[in-house]
Amino acid sequence: MTILVTGGAGYIGSHTVLYLKEKGLDVVVLDSLQKGHREAVLNAPLYTGQLKDEAVLDEIFQKHAIEAVVHFAADSLVGESVQDPLKYYENNVGGTLNLLEKMVHYGVLRIVFSSTAAVYGEPESIPIQETDQTAPTNPYGETKLAIEKMLKWSDQAYGLKSVCLRYFNAAGADPQAKIGEDHQPESHLIPIVLQAALGQRDKIAIFGDDYPTEDGSCVRDYIHVMDLAQAHYLALKKLAATNESGIYNLGSGKGFSVQEVIDTCRKVTGREIKADVSPRRPGDPAVLIASSHRAEEKLGWKPEYTELDEIVAHAWQWHKQSPNGYKN
Ligand code: UFG
Repeated sequence: MTILVTGGAGYIGSHTVLYLKEKGLDVVVLDSLQKGHREAVLNAPLYTGQLKDEAVLDEIFQKHAIEAVVHFAADSLVGESVQDPLKYYENNVGGTLNLLEKMVHYGVLRIVFSSTAAVYGEPESIPIQETDQTAPTNPYGETKLAIEKMLKWSDQAYGLKSVCLRYFNAAGADPQAKIGEDHQPESHLIPIVLQAALGQRDKIAIFGDDYPTEDGSCVRDYIHVMDLAQAHYLALKKLAATNESGIYNLGSGKGFSVQEVIDTCRKVTGREIKADVSPRRPGDPAVLIASSHRAEEKLGWKPEYTELDEIVAHAWQWHKQSPNGYKN
C-alpha cells in the first residue's frame, strides 16, 4: 500500500517515513519545506507544497494509489501560536480541511493524525488518560483539538476513519543517526542542552524553579521519536484491519524534570553544561505525564527505547555528527 505522509520532512514525520520504509511500505511525502528538510526524506518521493495547494494534492491522489494518509504537516510552536493564532487556524485547521476534502473526494478514508498533549491544557490528574477533559491553554492545542473534532464528525458523515495520536515530548533521533532533530530556531529542551554541550550556547536557562515538583523545575514525559514512528505504523495496521477510529496518548509514563534532563545530558556527553534559573515560561504546566495503556493494549504498542539515557544518547550522536543540523 502507498501511504501519503504530509509533513514528512519534519522531525517526527521524517523518522516515521524512515520507519514505514523499513517495514516495506511505499511512501509519498508532501512537505512545504518551510520548516522541514529535503535531506531528511530518505528513499521516498517528495512533493513540495502546502495543504492549501489543491493542485499538488490532486496530483498526488491522481498519480499514486494512496491507501491512507499520515498527517503531520502543521505549525507547532506554542508561543508563536499565542502571538499569531490566525496563522495556526489557517494552516492547521484550514490546511487539514483541504486535505480531508480531497481524501473524501478521492475515496481515501483512513488517516493517522499527529495530535498533542497540548489538547489537555493544565491536567486534571497525573498520569493523563485519553478520557480526561480537553481544555487547551493555547491556540496550537486548540487547532489540534479542532482537527480531532473534524475527524470525529467526518467519520460519522463520510466513514473517514482516523487514529489521533497525542504525543507527549518527542525526543531522540534515528539510532543510526541518519536523520535527527533540526529546528530553526531551536526551542526544545534536549536539543538546546546538547547545543550547550557542543559549545554553541553558553548556558541553559531553566524556566522556573518554583513549580510544585521535587526540584522545582517542570516535569515532562520524553518519548523516543522512533517509538512514536512505531505507533504510526501500528495505527495504520489497526485501521486496515479493523477500520476502527480511536484516540491514543503516546508517552513513556515516566516524568523527568528539566534539572534531571540536564544532568542526564551531562552524564551522556561527559561535558560541562552550565545552567541557571530564569523566570517561568508562560503557559507551561508543572507536570505532564501520559498514561499510554490504551495504545499498548489496543495498538500493541511497545516502546523500544525507554531509558532517558538512551534517548539522549541517540540525540547526542546526531548532534555531534551534524552540529549544524542538515546544513553540514
Ligand atoms: N525548557 C527550559 N529551558 C529551555 C527550553 C525548555 O527550561 O531552554 C523547559 C520548558 O519550560 C519545559 C521543558 O523544558 O518545562 C520542555 O520544554 P519543550 O519546549 O522541550 O517542550 P514542551 O513540553 O513545552 O512542549 C512539547 C511540544 C509541544 C507540545 C507540548 C505538549 O514541543 O509541541 O509538548 O504539552 F505542545
